[in-house]
Amino acid sequence: MKKIIVAIDGHSSCGKSTMAKSLARRVGYTYVDTGAMYRAVTLFAIRNGFFSEDGTIDSASLAGKIKDIRISFKTGADGLQKTLLNGETVEDEIRGMEVSGKVSPISALGFVREAMVEQQRIMGRDKGVVMDGRDIGTVVYPDAELKIFVTASDEVRARRRFDELEAKGGNRSTYEDVLKNVRERDYIDSHREISPLRKADDALVLDNSDLTFEQQDEWLMSHFIAATAD
Ligand code: DC
Repeated sequence: MKKIIVAIDGHSSCGKSTMAKSLARRVGYTYVDTGAMYRAVTLFAIRNGFFSEDGTIDSASLAGKIKDIRISFKTGADGLQKTLLNGETVEDEIRGMEVSGKVSPISALGFVREAMVEQQRIMGRDKGVVMDGRDIGTVVYPDAELKIFVTASDEVRARRRFDELEAKGGNRSTYEDVLKNVRERDYIDSHREISPLRKADDALVLDNSDLTFEQQDEWLMSHFIAATAD
């Protein structure tokens, strides 16, 4: 069985990372959550005061610091993957509404994308990775052996994200806030100038609005087996 790169792209909160993680665990591959990387850069920008009151980004200051941002991943004591920003675990902070509301404009900056794509290519150098994001099959790994484009209706995605926030506790957002955020991010992600979200021509499409986790896992597994056959 040959080692491959699995590129999973799609809209926000469509369950990409759940299926990517599950495949990586089953086949012993490394999972790379590239959205978490853009979220960690956003947290860095917030902490350093690079956002003004009206949401404008001081991109010159962020550009000057971009080489100082190191993002890595580790498995926590609970067996779940955690995102580290310069060695500090920031997993919970990067999932909150503040970062979610500011991450799209950060991920639209060319110098941010260049720095992240460089780190992502290093992470996949030896193959054996499942990477999820928006531009993995189109920009980061256009030669990936297996490319998947995942989608689901905006209401289904907002409901899933809302349930996730509720399950974590301390949620102050309504379902309507979350739906608005999902739609705004879709718009910015697919209309930005650099690396907009789009399906690679050779990607397989999965609409999981009405699928169970098990059904989507099996669908992905069968394509993985076909793609790794010698
Ligand atoms: O997958 P996510 O919701 O955690 O992603 C957070 C943001 O980062 C989202 O607005 C899109 C952006 N992103 C991106 O531009 N490119 C990627 N490869 C991954 C995420």
